[in-house]
Amino acid sequence: MPLVTGEDLLVPARTHGYAVGAFNTSNLEITKAVFEAAGELRSPVMLATSQSAIKYAGLDNLRALVANMADAFGVPAALHLDHGTDMEVIESCVEGGWTSVMIDGSHHPLERNIELTRRVVRIAHAGGVSVEAELGRLVGVEDEVSVEEGEGAFTDPAEAELFVERTECDSLAIAIGTSHGAYKFKGEPRLAIDRLEEIASLVSVPLVLHGASAVPPDVLELAKTYGAQLGDAKGVPPQSISEAIEHGVAKINIDTDLRLAFTGNVRRTLSDSPEIFDPRKILGEAMKGMKAVVASKIKLFGSENRA
Ligand code: G3H
Ligand code: 13P
Ligand code: ZN
Repeated sequence: MPLVTGEDLLVPARTHGYAVGAFNTSNLEITKAVFEAAGELRSPVMLATSQSAIKYAGLDNLRALVANMADAFGVPAALHLDHGTDMEVIESCVEGGWTSVMIDGSHHPLERNIELTRRVVRIAHAGGVSVEAELGRLVGVEDEVSVEEGEGAFTDPAEAELFVERTECDSLAIAIGTSHGAYKFKGEPRLAIDRLEEIASLVSVPLVLHGASAVPPDVLELAKTYGAQLGDAKGVPPQSISEAIEHGVAKINIDTDLRLAFTGNVRRTLSDSPEIFDPRKILGEAMKGMKAVVASKIKLFGSENRA
């Protein structure tokens, strides 16, 4: 089936109280793992490409991979630009077959963020492409900020209402305590669900949770057992993800958990089977591990059988 827009996938998700997973990809193996899981579970799905993923794999290659697999697996899928900051890349995605783009102006002052987002909305909507914007900053352990500083970066509900009205973006990424990468919390993981509830009461567009990887214990253990150095990696507990979905989050971004599953499985295959040197056998195991992660996310997000 042809690629659909972000709006096509996310508006029904917010209405019916489930979330669609947006999985970062930069190659054939990740893309195939995502589609295999989504195909088997009949789930809508988003394939997210960062600017650096596009630089790594090539715009045409990524579009062809995702579009061909959406056809082959027959599930509603959107091709999304993750964290767009470069106007040239955003425009080439709009022209190049992406069906959803993110403009990440979250590091700019409010007025500048609004201005940039409005500009992208104009360009993208003219091409039938949906727009995700971001308000608030994701700060994690690696940013070395105090709790107070961290909370100061969270999305302000009244600002979120004004921002969506003025920009006409189709979905909004918010900051409520998650962060990118494998080291999200020092102590107990905690999300600002009260704040999310308030934002959701003022903003009707689908809300987006970045930095939502769980760092699942079994996935972490496998990678560590085979020598990966992952210190005190800690992610967002599944229970917090469920609460976030109950309160209006309709798109959930996952990259780190796929990277961890990839790494653990490649390490295990190389270590346990030193006679193997066929890349398909090494990467085939990694694909299986990533597919299992995607399947567990689809079940947690409630998007199974929503295709
Ligand atoms: O949020 C960022 C994603 O995890 C992609 O990261 O720029 O290393 O591809 P990347
Ligand atoms: P994680 O690092 O938690 O997987 O978050 C990914 C993300 O938000 C991509 O935009
Ligand atoms: Zn992100």
